[in-house]
Amino acid sequence: MIFTIAIDGPAAAGKGTVSRAVAEHFGFRHLDTGLLYRAVGARTLRGEDPLAAAEALSPEDLLDPGLRGQDVAAAASRVAVLPAVRAALVGFQRGFARSEGGAVLDGRDIGTVICPEAEAKLYVTASPEIRAERRFAELAARGVEVTRAEVLEDVLARDARDMGRAEAPLCAAEDAVLIDTSELSAADATRAAIAAIETRRTGRV
Ligand code: DC
Repeated sequence: MIFTIAIDGPAAAGKGTVSRAVAEHFGFRHLDTGLLYRAVGARTLRGEDPLAAAEALSPEDLLDPGLRGQDVAAAASRVAVLPAVRAALVGFQRGFARSEGGAVLDGRDIGTVICPEAEAKLYVTASPEIRAERRFAELAARGVEVTRAEVLEDVLARDARDMGRAEAPLCAAEDAVLIDTSELSAADATRAAIAAIETRRTGRV
């Protein structure tokens, strides 16, 4: 059985939480494609050329706990504007998306570029202020010293780069179901996502 669930949206909208829960619910494999760009970004912070880094990426790169940091996120967003870097990462993502047993991929361009034929597409979003507040709480809980204003600035800069780039900019696919998590708990967002996917699975849309 081949069934791809594409989940796109901006940083800190709750995509990761929804994607993991959806994958568990359906028993599908899950790929957080942001990790690929973060791993390339991390290598560039160590002085590597972005394309060479993308071509040399190995599964171990994705296990680095340092990939969650803010500096790596910014580096990821910067390497993600490079068409050659994106092209180097396409094959792996497409192979994962169409692998036997069902797959959930979350990112920025899954429903539009990586897997336009995905059987179910979601666009998970929330207002920049709410996303910044969630990211701030997460960072504060980890003991990172940062202000709310700095986090909001970072969220807005990343949005501008991810949505404004020429190659595969972040946008909702025409046939994506929009889930705005601004006013939703993680459990409610997950329920909405599962309901939307079930509708596609049973062929009602
Ligand atoms: O989802 P994330 O915050 O881990 O993603 C980090 C960066 O990687 C993001 O700012 C843009 C880029 N990215 C992308 O361009 N395309 C994807 N499919 C996933 C991430």
